[in-house]
Amino acid sequence: MYTQGLDVPAGDRSIPVFADSEPDQRFQARVDADEKIEPKDWMPEGYRKTLIRQISQHAHSEYVGMLPEGNWITRAPSLRRKAILISKVQDEAGHALYLYSAAETLGIGRAEMNDQLLTGRAKYSSIFNYPTLTWADVGAIGWLVDGAAIMNQVPICRCSYGPYARAMVRVCREESFHQRQGYEIMLALSRGSAAQKEMAQAALNRWWWPSVMMFGPSDENSPHSAQSMRWGIKKVSNDELRQKFIDVTVPQAEFLGLTVPDPELKWNEERQHYDIGPIDWAEFAAVIRGEGPCNRQRLEARRKAHDDGAWVREAARAHAEKRAARMAEAAE
Ligand code: 3HC
Repeated sequence: MYTQGLDVPAGDRSIPVFADSEPDQRFQARVDADEKIEPKDWMPEGYRKTLIRQISQHAHSEYVGMLPEGNWITRAPSLRRKAILISKVQDEAGHALYLYSAAETLGIGRAEMNDQLLTGRAKYSSIFNYPTLTWADVGAIGWLVDGAAIMNQVPICRCSYGPYARAMVRVCREESFHQRQGYEIMLALSRGSAAQKEMAQAALNRWWWPSVMMFGPSDENSPHSAQSMRWGIKKVSNDELRQKFIDVTVPQAEFLGLTVPDPELKWNEERQHYDIGPIDWAEFAAVIRGEGPCNRQRLEARRKAHDDGAWVREAARAHAEKRAARMAEAAE
């Protein structure tokens, strides 16, 4: 099973085996020719399952990802910051919607995906299980988490599945605004009082390594990457995107006058990349297993929102039934 090196719940994650039938070969030729696969096209069952797994978990990440920053909307330091944060959190809800809709084109219903999230059977990005302790965390999330998300999502704009690639184009445009507003917060704090700069450094210390882990396990420990790359779902490997993120972000931290919390970080002239210290994969696996600082809180908040919204679903269902009855009557 794929969990070698990753002690995470396997869940229903059978790894699709690359079949070799005539239709599979024709399908692969389309992917290799960079054609877009659309919902009504023939596709291997493993391709469909992989996309449902990845897109639904991506959507869950956006949906749960609203919570850490949402926690600061009522406490933003100014009206301007509050307005920016409200629109950012609202964007994340929209991203979840695009992605749930993209997943629905593969035959899975919204209620089923919701149930997978609320019962803990589906994953969402580990990063959202960390607390936002100060206002600087809101800046660090925009700068680092949305920065990492952009790095990971831009290649998906070119992925083989049409609805997913198209959803990503709009998402990436909005993510770049998210990243810039976060970096602006960090710039204001790092140029502020000593206490503000200290707050920014503490936030970088908390969010640096969880952001580096967002890109997933190392390539040799990634059970899905080879298959997903063959199918054009994953265009760039986990480690390559991670390295790109680090190479871009370290100079940004230096410009802020902040120190990346990695004593082994150093520029490698020969590699033309930064070398980093060891990633704590035990922490990564523990957070994914549900043992992170906020896992329970995040799912409780999502279950409560679902329960509180039951009356909206009932009203919508009653309205739809009434409308259908009226249409049927009018048609008689
Ligand atoms: N958190 C939780 N689980 C993770 C993870 C993470 N950071 N990274 C990997 N995993 C899980 C995978 O889901 C998989 O488990 P599963 O089989 O039960 O689904 C297992 O670890 C093995 O990882 P692989 O690398 O083999 O899996 P993938 O090929 O799916 O690659 C991925 C992982 C790179 C995250 C890929 O799924 C992906 O690109 N997903 C789409 C983008 C996404 O979800 N980004 C995350 C956050 S969205 C965001 O940040 C929103 C922004 O607005 C803030």
